[in-house]
Amino acid sequence: MRIFSGIQPTGRKHLGNYIGAIVQYVAGQDRGEAIYSIVDLHSLTVPFDPRELPQLVYDTAAILLAAGLDPERCILFRQSDVHEHTELTWLLTSVTAKGELERMTQYKDKSAKQRELSTAGLFLYPVLMAADVLAYRAHEVPVGEDQRQHVELMRDVAGRFNARFGETLVVPEAVIPQVGARIMDLQDPTSKMSTTSASAEGTVYVLDEPAQIERKFKRAVTDSGKGVHRAPDKPGIANLIEILAVVRGVDPAVVEHEHREAGYGDFKVAVAAAVVDYLAPVRERYNELRADEARLESIFAAGAERARALASVTLADVRAAMGVGSPR
Ligand code: TYM
Repeated sequence: MRIFSGIQPTGRKHLGNYIGAIVQYVAGQDRGEAIYSIVDLHSLTVPFDPRELPQLVYDTAAILLAAGLDPERCILFRQSDVHEHTELTWLLTSVTAKGELERMTQYKDKSAKQRELSTAGLFLYPVLMAADVLAYRAHEVPVGEDQRQHVELMRDVAGRFNARFGETLVVPEAVIPQVGARIMDLQDPTSKMSTTSASAEGTVYVLDEPAQIERKFKRAVTDSGKGVHRAPDKPGIANLIEILAVVRGVDPAVVEHEHREAGYGDFKVAVAAAVVDYLAPVRERYNELRADEARLESIFAAGAERARALASVTLADVRAAMGVGSPR
């Protein structure tokens, strides 16, 4: 069983990325052949700084390694090192409906926010994402809830390709965690936690200092009333319950039971303490791993070579199925 997922090197990685996705990447190493990519080409679809980009790629790699990715047990590579991704993107545009791309909520949200230039890259983003996964004939795609629509699209693209050109690609499945698939902003628990949210106070970064984490949780917006339990009118408390459940590796019902007598203030302190303990070892390992850029480059080089060996086989099959290039 093959697993593929990608993570963007834009901005700093936050607790939502960690709980929704990175934890699953680490677990994937024990479940199958795991392939993970730092998708630098995706980050060109919104404004970026060319001098900063290589640094952000290293930052992201060091976070993934600190979280427990082991280059001996998975393939970790930088997307732009494997040219098959961009070639397959173009080939897949021939079986991608423009109307489908227009319906992607992430495209609609992000393009509305671009003041100066809403790029064609932003529009084609989901096709590049489809190429990432389909190039490896991956079966599973671990992601957070916000990527569900993109995985649906790649399933359609793979199915349409196979129907038009013959069975060539694997139709992948999204793997979305039961708990923690959509971590919400601590200041606005009706929007997902993200790097681009209105207030930096609502986003807990993996590399935040303990004091910052404690402050953000203490100030977290909770709901009126009392009682630590999940309910539709309690998005703030429900979010904190989910965070604590994932961090402790227990069911949210256990968290509710244990804290049933607690006031919101005490509960927030407990969640903060658990998150601080959870992220402390990651931050420590990060500092060591991030310092050795030569080692990160050698991990990328080895990862790209292994990735290319797999992707080039798919590309040869796709080209042959489509009649592209010299006939075999
Ligand atoms: P990216 O880099 O924005 O996010 C990485 C992962 O974090 C998840 N995530 C969250 N999970 C829970 N709660 C949140 N608040 C939250 N915010 C983000 C995302 O769902 C994602 O799994 N398009 C992808 C990158 C990508 C990719 C791929 C993923 C490129 N190619 C191929 C899978 C397969 C993205 O923007 O992730």
